[in-house]
Amino acid sequence: MSKIIIFGNQKGGVGKTTLTCLCANALSQAPFNYKVCVIDNDKQKSIAEARNFDLEDRTETTVPYTVLEFEIEELQQQIQALDKEYDLIFIDTAGKLDTQAAIENQEITKAIMYCDYLFLPFRAGNFNLDASLQYLKFLLEVQEVRSDSPRQLKILGFVNMYRVRSKVNDLLISEIKHLKEGGVSFMVNRLGNYTIFEDVDTLTSMYDEDTNHTGKLNFTVWLNEFIKLISNG
Ligand SMILES: Nc1ncnc2c1ncn2[C@@H]1O[C@H](COP(=O)(O)OP(=O)(O)OP(=O)(O)O)[C@@H](O)[C@H]1O
Ligand SMILES: [Mg+2]
Repeated sequence: MSKIIIFGNQKGGVGKTTLTCLCANALSQAPFNYKVCVIDNDKQKSIAEARNFDLEDRTETTVPYTVLEFEIEELQQQIQALDKEYDLIFIDTAGKLDTQAAIENQEITKAIMYCDYLFLPFRAGNFNLDASLQYLKFLLEVQEVRSDSPRQLKILGFVNMYRVRSKVNDLLISEIKHLKEGGVSFMVNRLGNYTIFEDVDTLTSMYDEDTNHTGKLNFTVWLNEFIKLISNG
């Protein structure tokens, strides 16, 4: 049985796709070497396109992990087989909720239905709190719908694109307090705003225990916590 993981937040541009690639790139290669699959279920197809781009002009055909471009129906058909085949499955989707539709009919619910872990990237400012709180309320309802399932959905928040000297940092602390009161645990480690994360591809691992690069070191420490969290049950 695999671990099925999704980065989710209805707020756009918080790092869902970036974190999916950073984690898949690192966890599929040394020192981890997990068998990883990324399901690109986002209509933007950013990961599938990035993988095609990464393979252009390359003669070798080996890749660290599989990228599958799936509509929700294909995901529903294939997930059981993939669950047997892979150690880790990441699903990248658009986050937008359809507030008109019943919870079980929402596209996003159909993807989250299979997940063991939802990691909620959170960024301070820009009216992110209301969107995240609304999303959290939706997730708690999904958890409720799934309460009879042997696989429980664990929800964990983390700060992405943190800036050390930022006017919004005081706000960030109170926003996280709100989210915690809303029922989400937060990772201790934050991911900073680093240009190397903007250039993420679908091949290169940024995990490096011996690095002097602050961005890579930040990701390495963050990923160590991430692994601990997904290893606990
Ligand atoms: N930690 C980070 N440091 C610097 N840039 C980042 C970081 N995380 C994400 N970004 C950048 O922020 C932008 C949005 O990231 P990304 O596309 O991953 O968000 P998303 O949540 O998947 O967005 P969408 O809702 O459109 O799918 C991208 O340009 C990405 O390079
Ligand atoms: Mg995205």
